[in-house]
Amino acid sequence: MRIGVLNGPNLNLLGRREPEHYGHVTLAEIEGRLRERAAQRSIELEFFQSNDEGALVDWVQSAASRVDGWLVNAAGLTHSSVPLRDALAASAKPFVEVHLSNVYAREPFRHRSLLSDLAIGVIAGFRASSYLFGLDGLADRLERDSG
Ligand code: DQA
Repeated sequence: MRIGVLNGPNLNLLGRREPEHYGHVTLAEIEGRLRERAAQRSIELEFFQSNDEGALVDWVQSAASRVDGWLVNAAGLTHSSVPLRDALAASAKPFVEVHLSNVYAREPFRHRSLLSDLAIGVIAGFRASSYLFGLDGLADRLERDSG
């Protein structure tokens, strides 16, 4: 099983970016924790982070044939990006939407997601652990569907 992990704009700054919302863990540390968990479950991961919406769309298009599903933190693009939504829909692969912060406890514009209705699940508010919960939820679903 192979899962693509997409991280959107500004997530490269994790660790020093608004720690009251996102904590002190860096994206590299999140990647390390995910790789550890994935190895325990014999899952391969492919990571991509970009601040560029078009680069994210290109990556989804090119990685779609290699992955069984996606773990997606589209960051600010969650609330605005029709192109990213369309790319994920076109991939026809299931995805889990994750957020470090509880977007529903923040500004109203963060309560709207252009991805949630396509996602098999949404996890928000558990800081770095959101990614681990998302990985387990997605892997459980993929295992169930394939077996
Ligand atoms: C975020 C929440 C978004 O609203 C925000 O724009 C981000 C990060 C999160 O992980 O909590 O960049 O996706």
